[in-house]
Amino acid sequence: MTSVYSLRVVQDHRIQVSCLPQSKRLPMAPTTDTWVKLQALAADANSIKIAEQLNNPERLDRFSVDLGRIYVDLSKHAVTEEILGLLLNLAKESRVLDHTREMISGGPINVSENRPALHTGLRHPAPHLPDKFIEQVKEEHAKLDSLSHRIRSGTWTGITGEPITDVINIGIGGSDLGPKMVVQALREFHTGPRVHFISNVDGAEILSLVKTLNAASTLIIVSSKTFTTAETLINAQTALVWLETELDLDQSQSRAQCIAITNNRKKAQAFGVPDQQILTFPDSIGGRYSVWSSIGFSICIALGFDNFKSFLAGGARIDHHFLNSPPEKNAPLLMALIGIWYNNFLGAQTHAVIPYCERLGLFVDHLQQLDMESNGKLSTREGEPVELETGPIVWGQTGTNGQHAFFQLLHQGTKLVPIDFIGTIHDALSKPEHHRVLLANMIAQSEALMTGQVNADPHQQYPGNKPSSTLLLDKLDPESLGMLLALYEQKVFVQGAIWSINSFDQWGVELGKQLTNKILGGSTGHDPSTAELLKKTGLSD
Ligand code: F6P
Repeated sequence: MTSVYSLRVVQDHRIQVSCLPQSKRLPMAPTTDTWVKLQALAADANSIKIAEQLNNPERLDRFSVDLGRIYVDLSKHAVTEEILGLLLNLAKESRVLDHTREMISGGPINVSENRPALHTGLRHPAPHLPDKFIEQVKEEHAKLDSLSHRIRSGTWTGITGEPITDVINIGIGGSDLGPKMVVQALREFHTGPRVHFISNVDGAEILSLVKTLNAASTLIIVSSKTFTTAETLINAQTALVWLETELDLDQSQSRAQCIAITNNRKKAQAFGVPDQQILTFPDSIGGRYSVWSSIGFSICIALGFDNFKSFLAGGARIDHHFLNSPPEKNAPLLMALIGIWYNNFLGAQTHAVIPYCERLGLFVDHLQQLDMESNGKLSTREGEPVELETGPIVWGQTGTNGQHAFFQLLHQGTKLVPIDFIGTIHDALSKPEHHRVLLANMIAQSEALMTGQVNADPHQQYPGNKPSSTLLLDKLDPESLGMLLALYEQKVFVQGAIWSINSFDQWGVELGKQLTNKILGGSTGHDPSTAELLKKTGLSD
């Protein structure tokens, strides 16, 4: 498909450059009356002053949701009552609730792969789900519980009889990011062996790591839904060869110190992993949603199975809220709709997430995969070209670090960037002197972005009126982290439903994989640029 760069003026005050397929640019398509009304209001959006909206004494109550362990403040947005009403109408017209029910009940919502998306069933295996699914979840939970307990207590040992002190989780994408993010975020609860994560096929990572470890007490976990991902298999091979060399083992002996987590038992068996050391999860669990499944095994080893269960319970709590709360107090729905307002009506291309908690640094990386792999789509569920802007670019890093890097652009740049600030009210790992400063920074930033400041010197002028949400966790513990993650998962789901896309496939990542394999197989006939790069890197003659 040919592409062109298009330059267009969006609502007379922003210029947007985009590279879109020539045949189908993405207009802000008027799909319904509601859409048209929202477009009309968007044309005048500059007149909405967020700070003035907050003069309404009911605003805060109206635009906030108390989830118990998380308080969600959505009041600092350029969204009036009228706009919110229309956005809620949009959700109704898009049959978000029907789609939600279809997802949760196990309908084949992932249409391009003809399967359900049942990660919610892992958090709460409700009786209406297929028996086979429930049985598998129960069985796997029992295995996660007993195996992690035996590893943590030292009764499950390495091949030479040493208790496990270190675990290497080898996986990539959803088979890495979810557990890595959770283990990092919940450091406070870490009582088991050390857990290391290797994802990149960059050999420097695995080779440097193993130099620091004792092979006799290191467990290798190979996490891969398909058990075909090249990066993971190469890293796993290298790790097992290291075990063999260090401990003078043969291939079958090294597998005794290896656990596989997969949906493809046959491939794991062919890799030599003993049957009782293969954990599985259902096909209906997408990679980026798999942290709730057996893929969370390294979380169980690090934090204990009970903490993993609390994490699942947090996710289930949000699912319950999502299904049962009225739309105007439904946190994931409101977060999704406000995102749609900026993405589809005000032309925002990106969405920033700034956690004021260093342990939540990887939460941003996880959200990137969750959001961009789910909603970075150009065709509808039915395979038609989309006529709307779909998922935003999700980015960010922890505060206060970000303040000393890109906040200049947030305060004085020309781009519209809606922001999510995430903070914790209490932090047992910190101390009051630090935590007060951290929280003061977060709250000051959201206020400064909104109020701005008038100054005669244009360099010191802050336009203000910059939108943000603030999510305040009571504390960062397994349940609240489960809630936080499920909140974003359901937000992404709602947006996908409104854009009529399938949020559960990821065909976009396939072409690059295929070309890599062709290149490694010695393919020829490349364009001059590619051919020269292959030559210079020694990948072709
Ligand atoms: O990048 C594509 C992807 O399929 C992700 O969706 C997935 O999480 C990752 O690769 C790893 O896949 P697997 O678990 O099958 O190794």
